[in-house]
Order: sequence, then C-alpha cells, then structure tokens
Amino acid sequence: MDKSKVANITSVLQEQRVFPPTKELSRQAHIKSLAEYRALYSESIRSPERFWARQAKTELVWFKPWSKVLQWKLPIAKWFVGGKLNVSHNCLDRHLDTPIANKAALIWEGEPAADGKPGEERVFTYRQLHREVCRFANVLKKHGLQKGDRAIIYLPMVPEAAIAMLACARIGAVHSVVFGGFSAQSVADRIADSQARMVITADGGFRRGAVVPLKRNVDEALTIKDANGHLLAKSIERVIVLRRAQNEIQMETGRDFWWHEEIGKVDAASAPEKMDSEAPLFILYTSGSTGKPKGILHTTAGYLLGVKLTMKYVFDLKETDVFWCTADVGWVTGHSYVVYGPLANGGTSLMYEGAPNWPEPDRFWHIVSKYRVNVLYTAPTAIRAFMKWGVDWPKRHDLSSLRLLGTVGEPINPEAWIWYHEIIGGKRCPIVDTWWQTETGAIMITPLPGAIPTKPGSATLPFFGVLPEVVDEAGVVVPRNSGGKLAIRKPWPSMLRGIWGDPQRYKEIYWSEIKGSYFTGDGARQDKDGYFWIVGRIDDVLNVAGHRIGTAEVESALVSNQKVAEAAVVGRPDDLKGQALVAFVTLKTGVPAEASLREELRNHVSKEIGPVAKPDDIRFAEALPKTRSGKIMRRLLKQIAAGGEIKGDTTTLEDFSVLARLSAVEE
Ligand code: WTA
Repeated sequence: MDKSKVANITSVLQEQRVFPPTKELSRQAHIKSLAEYRALYSESIRSPERFWARQAKTELVWFKPWSKVLQWKLPIAKWFVGGKLNVSHNCLDRHLDTPIANKAALIWEGEPAADGKPGEERVFTYRQLHREVCRFANVLKKHGLQKGDRAIIYLPMVPEAAIAMLACARIGAVHSVVFGGFSAQSVADRIADSQARMVITADGGFRRGAVVPLKRNVDEALTIKDANGHLLAKSIERVIVLRRAQNEIQMETGRDFWWHEEIGKVDAASAPEKMDSEAPLFILYTSGSTGKPKGILHTTAGYLLGVKLTMKYVFDLKETDVFWCTADVGWVTGHSYVVYGPLANGGTSLMYEGAPNWPEPDRFWHIVSKYRVNVLYTAPTAIRAFMKWGVDWPKRHDLSSLRLLGTVGEPINPEAWIWYHEIIGGKRCPIVDTWWQTETGAIMITPLPGAIPTKPGSATLPFFGVLPEVVDEAGVVVPRNSGGKLAIRKPWPSMLRGIWGDPQRYKEIYWSEIKGSYFTGDGARQDKDGYFWIVGRIDDVLNVAGHRIGTAEVESALVSNQKVAEAAVVGRPDDLKGQALVAFVTLKTGVPAEASLREELRNHVSKEIGPVAKPDDIRFAEALPKTRSGKIMRRLLKQIAAGGEIKGDTTTLEDFSVLARLSAVEE
C-alpha cells in the first residue's frame, strides 16, 4: 500500500448541519434515544458475550443451544460454538405458525418489456416461499448436492435467486452467487476456486430490454482452460436452468436440467439440516488489491444474527413495512438486505428485476408508489443519477408512503444527501447512511433512526458490538478530526471467517496491517462528536458506481490482451459514479495506438471480468512512470488522470521525461 495515502487523508468536508430524529419518530422506534443507544452500545462493548448471548437467544431459533458464545484466537473467530440451527428455517419455517405465514415475504416486479408492456408481478407469502424453497431443496438433493458442497448461483434478479439461496441453506450446501453482469471467464474462475459441483442459472435475463445470455456464458465457462490446458470448471456435474427470457439455448443431456421440469418431480416436504453455528453459509467473491478476487466466507449463526439485528434496528422495521433494497443479489447488500435480513425478521422484501432508467428514469418512483414502499435502501451513485435526471421524474409520483431512506456502498456527498432527503424523502424521512463491507456481513457504522442525529455525509456511530477506531501507521488512535485508517478492534458475529481456501491471505490482508485489529482498507476520520466520516478506500481498490473493483484485476485483464505490454489502472473522481476507471496502457512494439484499439480493449476487459470493470478512459503511453525499483507510481498517474498538476515527491522517479509525455497524451 502507498503509505503516503494515509497522511493525505484530510478533512475536506466541513459539513455542519445536524438532523435530529423527530419526537414522534423516536417514540415509535425500537431504540428511542441517544441515551438508550449509548447504554446498549456500552454494554455490547464491555460485556460482548452477555450482550450477544441475549440477542442470539431472543432473535434466533435453535435446534440445539451453543456451549460457548465466542472462541477468539486471532484471526479465527467462532461464535455460538456447539449450537445448531438452520438459516432457511429461521427465515421461513419459524413464521409458519404465526400470523406472518400468509404475509408477503417477497414481492417481485419484473422489468417492463421492450414494447412497453408492463413488467410481471409475483408475490410469495411466507407459506408459498417455504414451499418453493422446500421443493427446490429436494431438486438439489436429487441431483447429488450434499451438505458442504458448493453451488454457483448465476441468475437474474428473479425470486428464484432467493429461492435457490434459501434451498442451499436448507440442505447445508454453500452458495456462491455470481452477479449476472459478470463474464464467462469470471464464472469459470469462481467455479475453479470454490470447486462447485453445480451451477444454477437461467436461459437469459433481461436488462434494459435486451437479453443477457446467462446459459450461453455458463456453457462457455465450462469450456475455458487454464494456462496448463486444464478445464477450470471440471468440478461441475449439473447445471439447473430456469426458464426466464425464452432465448434459444443448448441443453446438454445428462448435465443440464430445466428447473420447471425438475421441480415437478419432487415433493414439498423437506426437513432443514441441523447445521453447526460455524458451518459455511456462503462464499461471495469480491475485489481486493491483488489480481485475484477473494472468496469471502460467511458462516451460519453469526451472519444471521448480524443481518437480523441490523435489519431490525437500522431500518427500524415495522410489521407492515414494505422494504425495498435495490441491490442485486449478486452483491453482499442483496444477500443481507434483500434476502436474509428481511426474511429473518418476517418482513416484506421487494425485489426489482431491472434498471432505474428503463423504460424511463422514473422506474423507481413508479415502483415506490405502486407498492407503497416504506423503506428504500439504495446507493449514492443512483441518487446522483436521479439528481442529474431531474426532479420532474420523482415529482410525478406519490412518494408519501416512504418513511425511511438508506444509502450504502460509498461515501455520500452532502449535496446528494440533502437532495435525497428533500426530494425523495419530502423532508420527513430520516436517512441512514450505512457503512459496511462484504467482509463485515452486516451494517457496522450507521445511524439508528429514532436515536442518533444524522449529519449529511457521515455514517455516524457504530452499531452494537462494533468497535471501530481511526489509527495511524503504527496502529495508534489519531486525535479527533485527523484522518487515518479505519480499524475494527474486536471480533463481531457477522464477520468473515476467512478467504475460501487461503487462510494465509486472510491473515495477511485483514489482520496484519494493524496489530491485533481488523483492517478495513478504508480511510476515515472521527469528528468532535465521535461521528465517523468515511473517506474511501486507501488500498488499490476503486469504488465505481458502488461496485468494488480491484485495479490489479483490470490491469491483469488488460495485459492478457496480446497487444498490450503493460497497464496501470487508477481512479479519477467522477460526478456520477464516484470514481471512474482510467487505464494507462503501453502497447507491444509495432502495435499502432489506434482509436479503435480503445474500444477493443474495453470490450476485452468486459469479456474477462464483466461490463462493470470496463475502463472509462484508455490512454496509450510510451512508458509508465516507475520508481527505480520498477514499481509503477500510481500516485502520479492519478494526478494525471484527474487532470491536475503533479504534486509531491517525484525524486524516486526513474525517468522524468515520462511524466511530461504522459501529461501531453490526449484522451
Ligand atoms: C465502501 C458494500 C462510505 C467502503 C456493502 C467499503 C462506504 C466498501 C459505505 C465495501 C458508506 C460502503 N460510506 N463508504 N456508507 N458503504 N462503503 O464490499 O469503501 O461491496 O470498504 O460492500 O464500500 O464494498 P462492498
């Protein structure tokens, strides 16, 4: 990591506005005052085991109680040791003999058709969802998927994505959801790493009226070979295919089976497996600062407790709420707050298949008014896009059902916060700016709407049991209002349990940077009131439109192209996406730097990783600025990408003329 970055974290934001909760809101909230929050918080830090034991007992349903709340030997945490439970049982069965049984668990709205035909609508009560999950669990079993086996879920945003996840959880199989926007190569890499036995996919998915050929991508993934000529996806025995887009696909006899045919051959009785508290629940691949995505591992009890509790307190969930988290199930936000968090609480979760601006930029507001959505949880990048599209779109719709708004994924600029508050929230809805990560499993730093006054741009204070601190290079807490690295001092129930298949890397990345603590990869500062202001990533990970993208991954995708000699990828500030990807590329000798090559390389990255990782700019350069030891000086490239002046130390630069030439390169 570039050490200079930490010193550069200064408090540029000087936001003074404070929005306290209204009396009415506090009165009805689960946590009603700052004092109540502080009392519970301090108990959770002083006596974490007592606090978490009480929560686990009241919030979750157990087949067998645990014998030890926490076993902690850095970096390995085990929570609720010896306990047995099942996540799908906690999300479904437990509600069946309550009045919730016939309440909507999932409301799904499909993308409108290209010809303007409105999207389909499907609603599953808890009883219906339970039945579908049980049947699909039986399909999985029939096809040989067993407890502990891994299954890849590569589906569009349809109810079957949630059904597949819950069915895996029911039989104790480990799911790894791969975002539908990722490429065949990404699917193959994830299969190879997880050694999955099954892929659950669809013929195709809809995206802005076009069909995403998911099954074709899977077919391709199953033929991709590594450098030694070995098939990456050798471990796959079965592909279950959901019919969604009706596009033409190939089915391989003996390997590929239709979802709708298989579901007809099984019954709906399925007893949930009694799983250990620490049994793996899912692996979710995410970007890090190396070229290879990390398989973040989450386990059963701690994860479930984390998402259940944050769902209840952060969104202050009410029995009658329609809760809409707009994230795709391919990301952790979709796992925790489309599927597991809402269902564990007996909530109603809305799921939307499409994009916010298809067929028109008012799609979200149309859905909010159609279903009388009460809580909306989305990303700052979406809010900035709504701002750009103008207030007329939301103004056309009745948004009066909204009572609470949330954001996640990147820092929200105060301007966007205020717009969200005024235009979408009609000045009456509090905003919860929630900071967390794939690794943390659940929300970590966040307002509690009835208790914690908010400040635009700050994620405010830590959730129960979370002890974050801002520290310097030596791991020492920095004074208030100075920047530093964000560390978490104590283990928490929903924390990752490791990187799949790579315990060493887990220790190095998360537990070695700051002695005795978890390192988040983010920079932050705490203000005089102890509020946290997250500055963003300080490692080589970019946050592009709320998606985590490792620069090293994009670089290795670029250099895998025959024409490329070397590549360096950096971020540049972008009004809409937060950060945009700029790639500096040197070409192999004799390859002309033609404009058409830019598009070719962008498409190449899209093929290797997926469209989310396409560089926004590609700049051809004769050489990249390097230190004498040969390390690319990304700090300088960042300044060039942002169009700024070169500042800071350049004495280690090997060849000074490179900089002048790079700055002169036109976009
Ligand atoms: C960033 C998404 C500022 C941060 C749940 C983190 C945020 C990364 C916020 C994790 C927020 C997330 N304010 N930054 N409220 N929420 N981030 O793993 O840099 O996709 O480390 O998880 O997003 O991204 P991930």
